[in-house]
Amino acid sequence: MSSRISVHQQTQGLKGTITVPGDKSISHRVAILGALAHGNTRVRNYLCSEDCLNTLRAMQQLGAQVTEGESATDFTLTGTAMHPKAPAHDIDCGNSGTGMRLMAGVLAALPFTSRMFGDESLSKRPMGRIMQPLERMGARIKACGHKPGCAPLAIQGGTLHPIHYDLPMASAQVKSAVLLAGMLAKGTTSVHQPAITRDHTERLFAHFGIPCTVSANGLDISVTGPVNIVAKDITVPGDISSAAFWLVAATIVPGSEITLPAVGLNPTRDAIITVLKRMGADIEINNISTEGEPYGDITVRYTPHLHGTEVYPQEIPNLIDEIPVLAVAAAYAQGTTSIRNAAELRVKESDRIATTVGNLRAMGANVQEFEDGMEITGGTPLHGAVLDSFGDHRIAMGFLMAGLRAEGTTTLLHCENINTSYPGFEAHLNQLIQA
Ligand code: S3P
Repeated sequence: MSSRISVHQQTQGLKGTITVPGDKSISHRVAILGALAHGNTRVRNYLCSEDCLNTLRAMQQLGAQVTEGESATDFTLTGTAMHPKAPAHDIDCGNSGTGMRLMAGVLAALPFTSRMFGDESLSKRPMGRIMQPLERMGARIKACGHKPGCAPLAIQGGTLHPIHYDLPMASAQVKSAVLLAGMLAKGTTSVHQPAITRDHTERLFAHFGIPCTVSANGLDISVTGPVNIVAKDITVPGDISSAAFWLVAATIVPGSEITLPAVGLNPTRDAIITVLKRMGADIEINNISTEGEPYGDITVRYTPHLHGTEVYPQEIPNLIDEIPVLAVAAAYAQGTTSIRNAAELRVKESDRIATTVGNLRAMGANVQEFEDGMEITGGTPLHGAVLDSFGDHRIAMGFLMAGLRAEGTTTLLHCENINTSYPGFEAHLNQLIQA
């Protein structure tokens, strides 16, 4: 991955078929659950990005074995039969908040000490949000970072007890950390979430035979432990968060038509499609499969009359990672797009409200920043610029999409982080530009 990537305004349109890599959220969870299970889980289309490879390596440190399969993204994971061993070294979570927070839930319940650390960005992200509920379950976790409440985390694992936890924020990572700890505790652990967040943990619990119940409104989830996980093969669908970049690129660049096969369409993750369609985008979905995690083929074409919209509060958790690129689409739409109730963006890989607003302004867009989001009034033609990605993969890719329509050349600096979620991104970009 180049450190700096430049794109020019596209006059021919982006055309082609791009198979985006496997889903990041699902890959982390498959590695963790498969590593604990009895038996072999054959994993297909795992996301071999730095984030998910770090989680897989962590699971190998706990004693799980990985046997390579037919392709780089296929392997067999031999689980530890619910008896993972203490890691010999500190666990490197790299850039991944998901990896660190989910693994904390598991490590807190295991009978040994462990330590997890991350890169500069991860070392600044709040870990108190998982430490509080886990400590209520009896966990002993110390945040050892320079910044209070931040990584590295030192975990003295042991027996946990079940709790009921009311999540203070709509976070699938916090929900999952509690549920993963809960499945290893004796009794029923339940969580209440203020809004529906991605439900991959719950779906994978069902896949691996872990007793989990979800209320009719989807807000209350419980798991009864201790569980006995039994391995079961799984294919990871394409990541809708990666597909989102091409959805926006094709929508804003005249003459485009892109097909994206086998993209995950989990209803807790698909609001980017709902919102883009509400803005007038031409998005078609075919060949839907609903067995396990739903997925389907998406075709998206240029939309000459994109218009602004309001993103509803309940949609925010459902498209939280797509907001930078949605903001780019909004800058090319007529009228105003309002994205509020999204203060969680400030604690992502970068402060995504500040970095999105700053980069949009640098390209000439009309944006107003709020503590909890932004309002973008589109219609002013954007111009190319040299932009920082602030070490944030989604800022890098989102603004490269903006550059495909902006006048002149757009250069994104510090793009190495794209590898944390989308290996092969640059090749896909070049393929679409040259097709
Ligand atoms: C994720 C949950 C979301 C999301 C992140 C992945 C997950 O984070 O932004 O990229 O896999 O559970 P929060 O739980 O902090 O909202």
